[in-house]
Formats: sequence, C-alpha cells, structure tokens
Amino acid sequence: MNQPNLIILVLFYSRHGATRKLAELIAQGVEGVPGCDARLRTVPAVSTVTEATEADVPAEGAPYVELDDLRDCAGLAVGSPTRFGNMAAAMKYFWDSTATEWLAGTLAGKPACVFTSTGSLHGGQESTLLSMMIPLFHHGLMVLGLPYTNPELMTTASGGTPYGASHWSGLDGKKTITEDEKRLALALGRRLAETAVKLRAAA
Ligand SMILES: Cc1cc2nc3c(=O)[nH]c(=O)nc-3n(C[C@H](O)[C@H](O)[C@H](O)COP(=O)(O)O)c2cc1C
Repeated sequence: MNQPNLIILVLFYSRHGATRKLAELIAQGVEGVPGCDARLRTVPAVSTVTEATEADVPAEGAPYVELDDLRDCAGLAVGSPTRFGNMAAAMKYFWDSTATEWLAGTLAGKPACVFTSTGSLHGGQESTLLSMMIPLFHHGLMVLGLPYTNPELMTTASGGTPYGASHWSGLDGKKTITEDEKRLALALGRRLAETAVKLRAAA
C-alpha cells in the first residue's frame, strides 16, 4: 500500500530575501527525495512598537506557520538571517509560542537542520546556526549537520558550514548564491528528507 508523502517543514524568517533563497534551495533538495514534500512557511515580523500588528496573511510569499505544521511534519529545517550573531527576534518569538508542543513532545524524534544568511562573511554564521539548534534540542528534534563528504565544505570561499547551510549576502545584500552555497543547501534538504524517510522505515 502506498504511504502518504512525508511533509518536511522549511520554516524561515527573511527580511530582505537572502534567507528565503536558501529556504527555497533546501525545499528543492527535499523535493528531490521520493516520498517527500516540502512545506515552506514563514513567521511574522515583530515590532518594538507594541501596538503594531501584522496581517494574518503575509502580502506575498510563504504563509505564516501554524502549530498544526509542527504536528504534520516529519522533519524540520529552520532558517533565519543573522542578527548580532543570533537568530532574528521573529524566529525566537515563534519558538516562545510553542510551549504546548514542547510539553506534548510534538517534535520529539523528528530530524531537523538549520540555515542562515549574513551580511559579512565572518559575522556570525556559525554562532547563529549553533544557537538556532538550542530550541530544537529542547523540543527533542534530532539535529543534523552536513558531513565533509560534501567536498564544497573544504573549498567554499562563501557560505556553507558543517553546522548547516549559509549564505554571505554582502553589505548591500546583493551577492547572489554561489555554486558552493547552492550545492550545500540542496544537500542539506536532501539529507533531512532522506533521514525522515529512513526513520519512517525503521518505525
Ligand atoms: C539588526 C541587524 C543585525 C544584523 N547582524 C548581523 C551580524 O551580526 N552579522 C552579519 O554578518 N550580518 C548581520 N546583519 C545582516 C543580515 O544578517 C544580512 O543582511 C542577511 O543576509 C539578511 O537576510 P535576509 O535577506 O533573509 O533578511 C544584521 C542585520 C540587521 C538588520
């Protein structure tokens, strides 16, 4: 009997589009794995002006994530631009709304990975990727990186790390995704989806 396709949630925040491009590549990597569908979702911006509210539906692009997306997914990729060496407040704010799912173990045992984009090459890709893993560990997700069997990890002069996919967008945010960054983002999406398939087979 045919099993339904696994849903791999690719959850990201992107203010200027660089992290969104990585999210799309990771989703492409996921879709390359038979039996897996990528579901792209974003989170609303947060404001220092407490009265400000966002519309329920974004003006364009991926819909806002709902808690059901966490329940539905068999794997999860999380991406955020680097903000002072850490994830953006919008993504942290989302995680702070997931206490019920944390207590219920909704994500426990599912595979996960992380990705980011920075303005400067040494401006905190690794610290952002590592700190984005922390709420994932608390949720019981099984966090994956990229192995050095991906030769681009040795040669990249832009983004791409063993901790996750990354992009160096430049000070004006106009640098395009390099071939190394692209290959590593695709590989990460593929690895995430393949792991979800293996876990289903082993269950
Ligand atoms: C408040 C703020 C803090 C930032 N902090 C950093 C940083 O610590 N290191 C860095 O390299 N870039 C930093 N940046 C630049 C963004 O990480 C970079 O432009 C990123 O590619 C934006 O991604 P996006 O296009 O998905 O929004 C910061 C940008 C903002 C607005």
